[in-house]
Amino acid sequence: MNRLDGKVAIVTGGASGIGLATARRFLDSGARVVVGDVQAPPPDMTKAGVAFLATDVRDPAQVDALVRMTIERYDRLDVVFNNAGIEFHGPLAATDPADHRRMVDINLNGAYFVLQSAVRAMLTNPGPGRGSIINTASVAGLTGCPGMSTYNATKAAVVMLTKNASLEYGPFGIRVNAVCPGIIRTPMALLAVGDDNAYLDEIGRKVHPLGRLGEPDEVAKLVTFLASDDASFISGTAIPIDGAMTAGFSATPGWDPSDAGNG
Ligand SMILES: NC(=O)c1ccc[n+]([C@@H]2O[C@H](COP(=O)([O-])OP(=O)(O)OC[C@H]3O[C@@H](n4cnc5c(N)ncnc54)[C@H](O)[C@@H]3O)[C@@H](O)[C@H]2O)c1
Repeated sequence: MNRLDGKVAIVTGGASGIGLATARRFLDSGARVVVGDVQAPPPDMTKAGVAFLATDVRDPAQVDALVRMTIERYDRLDVVFNNAGIEFHGPLAATDPADHRRMVDINLNGAYFVLQSAVRAMLTNPGPGRGSIINTASVAGLTGCPGMSTYNATKAAVVMLTKNASLEYGPFGIRVNAVCPGIIRTPMALLAVGDDNAYLDEIGRKVHPLGRLGEPDEVAKLVTFLASDDASFISGTAIPIDGAMTAGFSATPGWDPSDAGNG
């Protein structure tokens, strides 16, 4: 199921967290994988045959070089997981303009440049199905979170870019979807809570109705499905993978959650 045999895939931000888990899943599913990241993936990935090009997604020339290198090496490009991103939080009124600009530059401009370069390459594939692009948005692209104005704005923009690209390039057989993770156990999430694993677990229990953090490989499985031909009629979506976090209010006034277990 969800096989990627014969497919060539790029993963940006593939050296860590969700991107690394997805690069591993892609590889296990039969794809040839190229990672573009500002840091190198762990050595076992290179040993397993994953190619790496140091790539800062803020620079369109570097993104183009990543796509060019992939096509020179493997002759084609079928899948792009457009995932590199950063996160910080703080009150809107106190945010340093330089920090704001840096996050917009990576999370929005970087995602845009990767999307552009991916589409240009995929348009040269023979049809009808010319490729699948999966963008990493976030629950923060679907609903507000206090203290995360810049991050929310960039991820909401990624959701809208996904929709636009799916409309523009659907007629050419290119599928474009976004995944919207809740809180996933990665170095980024850990850093946001001062490297306090117990506290991160506690937040995971509180904010997700399923009562725990998400794991990177759970997102990787969804991305692998969207990349595969099993998802051949799915495009233009922004799929929450968030343990029901964005399903609605988790607390209704007067509602005792334990009542739900009483049959
Ligand atoms: N972890 C979560 O809870 C969570 C939730 C929702 C969405 N996300 C999104 O998932 C994506 C992956 O995050 P993660 O949690 O795996 O974090 P992570 O920090 O583990 O991985 C992010 C990767 O992106 C790379 N990167 C950063 N800036 C880059 C740049 N300019 N160019 C190229 N690569 C760059 C980093 O080097 C790193 O390898 C991000 O877009 C993030 O916003 C994460």
